[in-house]
Amino acid sequence: MDSRSKHIRRALLLAITTIWILSQNARAQSADQAWLKYAPIHASSSIPSNVLPLGDSPLEQSAAQELKRGLAGLLSESPAHNSSVIAIGTVNEIRAAYPQIAIPDVPDPEGFVLTQARKNNRIDWVIAGGRDRGALYGAFALLRILSESQKLPGSAVRSTPAMPIRWVDEWDNADGSIERGYAGRSIFFEGGKVRDDLKPVEEYARLLASVGINGCNVNNVNNAAAFLEPQMLQNLARAAGAMRPWGVRLAISVDIASPQKIGGLATYDPLDPKVKAWWSAKIDEIYALIPDFAGFTVKADSEGQPGPASYGRTPADAANTLAAALAPHNGVVLYRAFVYNHHLDWTDPKADRARAAYDIFHPLDGKFLPNVIVQTKEGPIDFQVREPVSPLFGGLTETSQALELQITQEYTGQQRHLVYLAPMWKEVLDFDMRVGDRSTPIKSILAGTAFHQPIGGGLGPPRTGLRPWGGGMIGVAGVGRDAWLGSPLALANLYAFGRLAWDPNLTPEQIAEEWTRQSVSADEAVVQKVDAMLMRSWPAYENYTGPLGLQTLTDITGTHYGPGIEGSENNGWGQWHRADREGVGMDRTVATGTGYAGQYPPEVANIYENVATTPDDLLLFFHHVPYAYKLHDGKTVIQYLYDSHYEGAATAAQFVREWESLKGRIDPALYENMLPRLEYQAGHAIVWRDAVVQYFLKLSGIPDEHGRAGNYPNRLEAEDAKLTGYQVVDIKPWEDASRGKAISCTQGPQGGAQRSCSTEWVYNGAAGNYDIAIQYFDLQGGVAKFTLTVNGQSAGPEANWSADASLPNRHLHGDNSTRHIVPNVELKPGDAIRIEGIPDGPDSAALDYIELSPATNSPLNSH
Ligand code: GCU
Repeated sequence: MDSRSKHIRRALLLAITTIWILSQNARAQSADQAWLKYAPIHASSSIPSNVLPLGDSPLEQSAAQELKRGLAGLLSESPAHNSSVIAIGTVNEIRAAYPQIAIPDVPDPEGFVLTQARKNNRIDWVIAGGRDRGALYGAFALLRILSESQKLPGSAVRSTPAMPIRWVDEWDNADGSIERGYAGRSIFFEGGKVRDDLKPVEEYARLLASVGINGCNVNNVNNAAAFLEPQMLQNLARAAGAMRPWGVRLAISVDIASPQKIGGLATYDPLDPKVKAWWSAKIDEIYALIPDFAGFTVKADSEGQPGPASYGRTPADAANTLAAALAPHNGVVLYRAFVYNHHLDWTDPKADRARAAYDIFHPLDGKFLPNVIVQTKEGPIDFQVREPVSPLFGGLTETSQALELQITQEYTGQQRHLVYLAPMWKEVLDFDMRVGDRSTPIKSILAGTAFHQPIGGGLGPPRTGLRPWGGGMIGVAGVGRDAWLGSPLALANLYAFGRLAWDPNLTPEQIAEEWTRQSVSADEAVVQKVDAMLMRSWPAYENYTGPLGLQTLTDITGTHYGPGIEGSENNGWGQWHRADREGVGMDRTVATGTGYAGQYPPEVANIYENVATTPDDLLLFFHHVPYAYKLHDGKTVIQYLYDSHYEGAATAAQFVREWESLKGRIDPALYENMLPRLEYQAGHAIVWRDAVVQYFLKLSGIPDEHGRAGNYPNRLEAEDAKLTGYQVVDIKPWEDASRGKAISCTQGPQGGAQRSCSTEWVYNGAAGNYDIAIQYFDLQGGVAKFTLTVNGQSAGPEANWSADASLPNRHLHGDNSTRHIVPNVELKPGDAIRIEGIPDGPDSAALDYIELSPATNSPLNSH
């Protein structure tokens, strides 16, 4: 394609994208934008065309409404005209209407059976729920089965959720911002109140119900006190009402100091009778407004939040005070085990944040009331790209437990990077903790079956006051007004979370396939390609960020996004990896380290204690080893660091080409939405790769066997060019820019702002056509503009661009280092390559380097 037609193509794409964005804005936010699309299927004429709810409960009505809507879409190209019905009801209602068929018992109120029944010479389909909630989940299951396989299986389908608690947490603030949210503002709150327009909340609940999620905790775990104010509770009752038709119960995060902060008491000591009475009255007030209120989430004694430790009390004391008041209403307390000291002494080799949850909560096992569920992040640190499974799951055998995962991609690329997290979650769910030297996979612990017999499941309280309530899974979702999760492919994570919480025996591949068929296309070739991208995305991200158990090597006191390798060292937060000149990794063994490995049951502890048996992907989490230490395949740690970063970045680049191969096979709007995201990711993966690789090259002094690290033959550094107006600046951290330096157009000679700056290189390579990648910094708060010319002539239709992306950080940093590619530029020795940068406010049109590679669309390189 010549550059003119490419220009036209780009202009067209831009127009389509603009129209798409405008239409999305004009259109109300709806669940159809996610996976509930109900695209037409090649349906058999035997699919009943009528829907019959047998009961009048609101959930059955919702189920009927969804079936009608779903069938209208699925059958739109092959409408069925028959007298058969899809009957929806509880088991009892179905038995009454179809006495001739044997419907099995469904003891779990959330479970269901799908089957067929002959009646009056017609074949009806029936959805029999344990109770009406089960009927609702059955309706969604039936629609999912139809979307995927176009027909109902020959034999009855029976399904019950593996665990009773299946919640999403939103970390929304009352002002409408979202802690660690990457998809715009809150759908729940704005300006200190619940939003007037709750249609998106209703649609969200519909989406959640479709994958069996039954609770939604709506506010941030931090700064939660205001949510218990009477006015806010009235507001929250409206939000609960919007989710109720879809069986999603509202929960809120509470601040343990609320009795003092908003209740006017002198204390918040959980054992003080006045404090207990305050909580009881407050909880009664909540239930008077929200009769099906689900419960509280508590973050206490953590990252500056107040907690029982202020009074020498334990988490069990605090949790039980709340739980006792919630119990008569059938509410629960999700007490977070994310309790740790963030003022640790970094110089103390025995200090270890990873130990905190187990050290604090294990001694309290058996001391919690039955409606307390201890909620633990999957790993002992904080949602890193990889961590070992938290040993606390094996350390609480008398307590209900929930696994907290992040759907919002805080440390995993913030939705700008494609990272399908189901494979990570699945590894956690399948991980066998070997408590008591017998099989105790995490999923059985969450289901409440590992240490006790099942307790009857469902939403009800325990049958006896002594047994735990049963656990579950919590997904921190962070949905916002920007198409739920911003990136369309990120929605696979929300979908997968719900599906795994319902059935942790599903595989990530199965789930990806289900999601893709419903959300992208049922075209086999498309399904295969998209699923392959999803499945490779987490390993790729791990490779180009922090492999071998190093965790995401990002600045942990900053944005948690771009590279910042030392950002986690030398401070009290305890996310250390202890890289030094000789080696890397944190010694967490019992023998010589912090003793963390000993928190696991013996069989697992032995594996991690011994460097030879520790799996490579967790090696540096448990051990400090020399750079020349050999992994299981004989490769050295340092060489693995180099190789994995190059491999990861190469995979990200492949994603762009794979997505391009879907053009014309998928919805053009989806295609155009996703393509620039993947192009951005490919560029940012290079920022990550180079940062980590040059950092470890400098620190270790050991060269890359393949000669790539620190060696960029096709790169022209900005600081080496002839600069007019631009000034050379040091980047912090240094590894975030090529050779640590960039150029920035900030101050003029008299101290006034620059109007524009330029940089010029004289080309002295071989003549030919090149793609020129320009690595620049896109700072918040302004839109800098750039122009690329060769010998004073524009370098083509892509030669003018604006730094208008929305990237984190107000300083020049790997967070906002990004690239623009000007394709197919003809160059010969002696040519002057010049970039002019026009800064805009704080955006200083800063540049790192340009990189030349043979043009992919050049006639000389056609493919
Ligand atoms: C992470 C996250 C915080 C959050 C905390 C938590 O540290 O960065 O924003 O408050 O987890 O889970 O409580």
